[in-house]
Amino acid sequence: MPFTGTGVSPPPVWLMRQAGRYLPEYRKTRAEAGSFLDLCYTPRLAAEVTLQPIRRYGFDAAILFSDILIVPDALGQGVRFVDGEGPRLDPVRTLEDLSRLALSRTNDKFALICETVERLRQELPRETALIGFCGAPWTVATYVVEGRGSPDQSAARSWAYRDRDGFATLIELLTDASIDYLCGQVSAGADALQIFDSWAGSLADDEFERWVIGPTAKLVREVRKRHPSVPIIGFPRGAAAHLDRYVAATGIDGVSCDTACPLGVMQGIAKGGTVVQGNLDPLLLVSGGTALDHRIDDICAAMSGLPFVFNLGHGIVPETPPEHVARLVQRIRT
Ligand code: CP3
Repeated sequence: MPFTGTGVSPPPVWLMRQAGRYLPEYRKTRAEAGSFLDLCYTPRLAAEVTLQPIRRYGFDAAILFSDILIVPDALGQGVRFVDGEGPRLDPVRTLEDLSRLALSRTNDKFALICETVERLRQELPRETALIGFCGAPWTVATYVVEGRGSPDQSAARSWAYRDRDGFATLIELLTDASIDYLCGQVSAGADALQIFDSWAGSLADDEFERWVIGPTAKLVREVRKRHPSVPIIGFPRGAAAHLDRYVAATGIDGVSCDTACPLGVMQGIAKGGTVVQGNLDPLLLVSGGTALDHRIDDICAAMSGLPFVFNLGHGIVPETPPEHVARLVQRIRT
């Protein structure tokens, strides 16, 4: 899977959340595992669900099956996934709460995820890239502080305004844990990495610089010290207005663009030599039909000849008919 240079035709394709509840075989393995976290921490089963969409659709890349909340869980926060409600964590709102999290605890849980990566690199065809990942420190912090998903990330934004140094301590802990975690994944066989910053779009200028750009740049720099050639993709969702700065200042090799990012902006970044990934609306993949075909064609035409990887603008939703995914892959490749 090419990550640098000019575009190839057809472009490589993989989809965020390509392993998930829209696939019947995923639902079966998930039931066998019990809870979602048990699935993440059982290398045999996590590897199995990672491979399911590769067998079905022959994507150019597999993404490790795990979750961005493995990092706070491994730090000792206690993460639960409540069916139908999403993640729940014991909120960290003060330095005292924060003192209960510790980098030294992460080894056992990170080792299980790395074992999944090792299995996958052995089982995947050589031509299928294996992508490891973590959440960006800012996005993970929004869950750590709120204790759950939130529409406006207000608990984390408020802490950052109220007590910048205290919040910086949390961001630093998450950054350091993520450095170890990503390096472990590369050592175990990941070919590329993606940093998911789903809530990058909720920050004002200076705050974006402080909590998105700074920690992401450190993550990239530190991973590169140990693994100089591993390609790193950033996904600063909702931050189209900051993309040029994000690309220039973080040192990432590729940027994943969300659904709302204009194709013209993606072209501009790709022409500057950064690999662009994106950005089909996951809801079009639910509705299907000619509207889906036309948008696939428009994206491919706009990015033709440029360094580009076809993807969605956000993860696949559970309502997606699996046959629409097959149609998408076929359309891109013919
Ligand atoms: O892309 C992939 O296929 C790799 C696996 C992956 C998952 N989550 C699996 C998952 C990745 C990369 C993630 C990232 C993730 N997790 C993000 C960042 C990207 C984004 O989507 O914005 C975030 C914010 C999370 C946190 C998270 N995990 C939430 C809010 C939820 C609950 C929502 C839901 O869909 O139930 C999860 C659970 C989760 N992570 C599922 C999957 C397949 C569904 C769990 C199930 O089987 O019930």
